[in-house]
Amino acid sequence: MHLGRLSARHRSSKKALPLMAAPPIYSTDMDQDERDRWDRIASSDPYFGVLVEPRFRGRQLSGATRAAFFATGMGHVDQVLRGFHRLTGDPRWDPDGPGPIGRILDIGCGVGRITLPLARRATEAVGVDISPLMLSEAAENARLAGLSQSTFVRSDPELTQVTGQFDLIHSYITFQHIPPPDGCRLLASALRRLAPNGVAMIHMTTRTGAPIGRMIRGLRRRFPALNTIIHRLRGWPPSAPFIPMYPYHRPPLVALFDREGIQILDEVHTDHGGHIGIMFFLRRYRAG
Ligand SMILES: C[S@@+](CC[C@H](N)C(=O)[O-])C[C@H]1O[C@@H](n2cnc3c(N)ncnc32)[C@H](O)[C@@H]1O
Repeated sequence: MHLGRLSARHRSSKKALPLMAAPPIYSTDMDQDERDRWDRIASSDPYFGVLVEPRFRGRQLSGATRAAFFATGMGHVDQVLRGFHRLTGDPRWDPDGPGPIGRILDIGCGVGRITLPLARRATEAVGVDISPLMLSEAAENARLAGLSQSTFVRSDPELTQVTGQFDLIHSYITFQHIPPPDGCRLLASALRRLAPNGVAMIHMTTRTGAPIGRMIRGLRRRFPALNTIIHRLRGWPPSAPFIPMYPYHRPPLVALFDREGIQILDEVHTDHGGHIGIMFFLRRYRAG
């Protein structure tokens, strides 16, 4: 979930990020748990499940609210493409250029908020997600937008439903919800599919809020009734499940990038309501 606006952004060279990791709690049937959790929110509030703002609650958004929701995705895609254009000088990434920009993979596509504007510029766009209900909402949104070059398939750590190479791989506010062992497998599987000179923007959360907030999140996870009360107080859907947040350590990510032949071009730091993260701008510079 996107827990508020991006409130601070700065280059990595200006400020070192603290590395934190509260030990995550894993269950044995994590995949099923995760899918159920996201399907629950997708069944009642798929758009709010992606962007936690009261105006995005409900299954159907009004025309203006729907336009506002997808405008956030367009703004994000513009920011990402401009970033790659500036960093590589490659005209493929010029958001004002003629395009198209080849094959695109969006990991944790949700309802297609970002996949759809990417698809508009791509020869083919593939969105993957753990939630079948999010995937069908995204497919319907693509159909309504006339974007027949987009497909939506189930995600797993090996990306078994995904074939071929990609020119651009993207993931935003998604890995933070995936337990790091699974997330790192998924990340490696994705980066192995990055074409020579292809680029990837991967957002990872590295610190999940202040210690008191983490303690309350632990209690909410353990006691669903408390979670429901907090949701009511915030005006969130009371039946919405608790969605876990997982911080990732930066050094193993850097090692993973190196193993897979991936170079870090830039790091843009993010702060979503106290959850600190990094948008990694990456490029394949050698075979993995
Ligand atoms: C906060 S939403 C972000 C959606 C989209 N990236 C965006 O910014 O609009 C997180 C998405 O990640 C998906 N997700 C959660 N765990 C996942 C996993 N293990 N593999 C793929 N997608 C996952 C959820 O179903 C949800 O659609």
